[in-house]
Amino acid sequence: MTIYNFDEIIDRRNTNSLKYDFARERGFPEGLLPMWVADMDFRAPQPVLDRLVAVAQHGIFGYTETKDDYVAAVANWFSQRHDYQFEPSWLKKAPGVVFALALAIRAFTKPGEAILIQSPVYYPFTGCALDNDRIVIRNQLVLNNNRYEIDFDDFERKIVDHKIKLFLLCNPHNPIGRVWTREELLTMGDICLKHGCLIFSDEIHGDFIFPGHRHIVFGSLAPELADLALIATAPSKTFNLAGLQIANLFIKNPKIKGAFSAEVRATGYSQLNSMGLAAAQSAYETGAEWLDQLMVYLKGNLDLTREFFQTNLPKVPLIEPEGTYLFWFDCRNLGLTPQEVNQRILEKGKVWLDDGAIFGPGGEGFQRINAACPRSVLREALEKIAVALA
Ligand SMILES: Cc1ncc(COP(=O)(O)O)c(C=O)c1O
Repeated sequence: MTIYNFDEIIDRRNTNSLKYDFARERGFPEGLLPMWVADMDFRAPQPVLDRLVAVAQHGIFGYTETKDDYVAAVANWFSQRHDYQFEPSWLKKAPGVVFALALAIRAFTKPGEAILIQSPVYYPFTGCALDNDRIVIRNQLVLNNNRYEIDFDDFERKIVDHKIKLFLLCNPHNPIGRVWTREELLTMGDICLKHGCLIFSDEIHGDFIFPGHRHIVFGSLAPELADLALIATAPSKTFNLAGLQIANLFIKNPKIKGAFSAEVRATGYSQLNSMGLAAAQSAYETGAEWLDQLMVYLKGNLDLTREFFQTNLPKVPLIEPEGTYLFWFDCRNLGLTPQEVNQRILEKGKVWLDDGAIFGPGGEGFQRINAACPRSVLREALEKIAVALA
């Protein structure tokens, strides 16, 4: 067994890393500790690195497709980790989940029509809808006793009132960290079924689940719900391969798959990046051991963060995440405006977080920290945040 050392600090500066090397271009001062965009400061599993080296050494990067062994690698992963089985014909590869989300919007709605999201949510949900001239309708998530819940009456009312044909589900939900339960998913699914609304289920964070919770693949709920859904997954978050641009969708309904595939064809995109495909297959075949160790480490980072907030920032509740490595905390009781909180974190703390406001209504006054980094770096960031907000 390989023991991975997640404490190792790997210098990512000057690698063209979005997280480390583009502060000025994105309107931030230089020298901040970056704890924002959702990639990890950990090296991918060693067998994946070995596979990429072998591909590179072969030296020919021609057009590449996948065979049965690729499908088997993905199928085994989802069967073993999530008890979800799909037919090979349901699999559709894409260069990213956001790419797929944008194309689903184009395939299943028309300009001027409304899309349903649950706010606050990963900001491309809104961006892709608006960029495609769709209207964004929000089913506002409700914070009750420090835990977010769904207002199902509002959910159904919005679908009916706005003739919603497409709902963008985020499960586990970024940034609020909920792993939706079977009951919650079934309730949303049944409402969508009743009103003929398709579901794009973004499950990119589905492998990051903390003890006591379980990720339910939307397509595993019931056959009639699977028929309404596009399930979007990717090895990119799970194994830290985002720059290799690969996602796998499971689309059971042939009509939906056909319409989605036609939309992909219309973009001119066909074969995926050969390095991405090699890395994805290798990760699903060999990455379980690495991920198991990583989850223990991330749980340690969560424990540290929770304790740190309780001890040093008692007025700033951490919303206990059930999944993801993105932790969401509530700065509304500090007697500061959200702008003042931002300013202090940036100017006094010199830490780069994601301001909750970018996730849409309900996000203002919150901050999101990416905790997928060596523990010493996380501790340093938390200490800086505490000084900034003191
Ligand atoms: C919920 C969610 N979906 C999608 C993505 C990005 O996916 P991709 O890089 O495959 O487009 C992210 C990245 O942070 C995310 O948090």
